[in-house]
Amino acid sequence: MDSIIIYGSQYGTTKMYAEELSKRTNVKALSFEKIDDINKYNKIIYLGGLYAGGVLGMSKTFKKLNDMNNRRIILVTVGLADPKNAENINNIRNAIKRQLSKNILEKIKIFHLRGGIDYSKLNFVHKTLMNLLYKKAKNLPEEKKTVEDKAIIETYGKKVSFIDFSDLDGIVSEFSK
Ligand SMILES: Cc1cc2nc3c(=O)[nH]c(=O)nc-3n(C[C@H](O)[C@H](O)[C@H](O)COP(=O)(O)O)c2cc1C
Repeated sequence: MDSIIIYGSQYGTTKMYAEELSKRTNVKALSFEKIDDINKYNKIIYLGGLYAGGVLGMSKTFKKLNDMNNRRIILVTVGLADPKNAENINNIRNAIKRQLSKNILEKIKIFHLRGGIDYSKLNFVHKTLMNLLYKKAKNLPEEKKTVEDKAIIETYGKKVSFIDFSDLDGIVSEFSK
């Protein structure tokens, strides 16, 4: 049995965290698309970028797990909205609950990191979606705007990075337990 870091990253911010985590733990990091047999690993750190509440590649990857016996899973989300905000954490966790089975949920430890966005790199579909979300968020009365809405408004059209490798410390110590 072995350890693995798996990541789901479209534009590279999650991959950067995964690679830094790999350096710190000496565990190989691979994209979820490159995992041939997830069942040979008993310690898994899964990092996924948040896309409209979903964690990129997570459901697809975890569906391949035969059982949870003797397995430890750490799940890390990477998103644009502030992951230290309680309302945001709550929203992310509720979304995760809808995406994973109960036996996996019971076993995983969840962490949240902040990524970034570069609008000049977004593909057409993502650009269009962000434009719709931006317009919707901007038109909401101030008291109805969620942290996600505010993050979209503040960063719209820009290149921003909130990557902070010191936020990996808690994950490294959880992994070493
Ligand atoms: C179409 C789209 C949807 C997104 N949805 C969310 C979201 O629901 N919550 C969030 O915090 N960030 C959201 N983001 C921001 C990404 O999670 C953020 O850019 C992250 O760093 C992307 O990771 P990656 O660079 O590894 O792909 C979204 C970005 C795009 C382009």
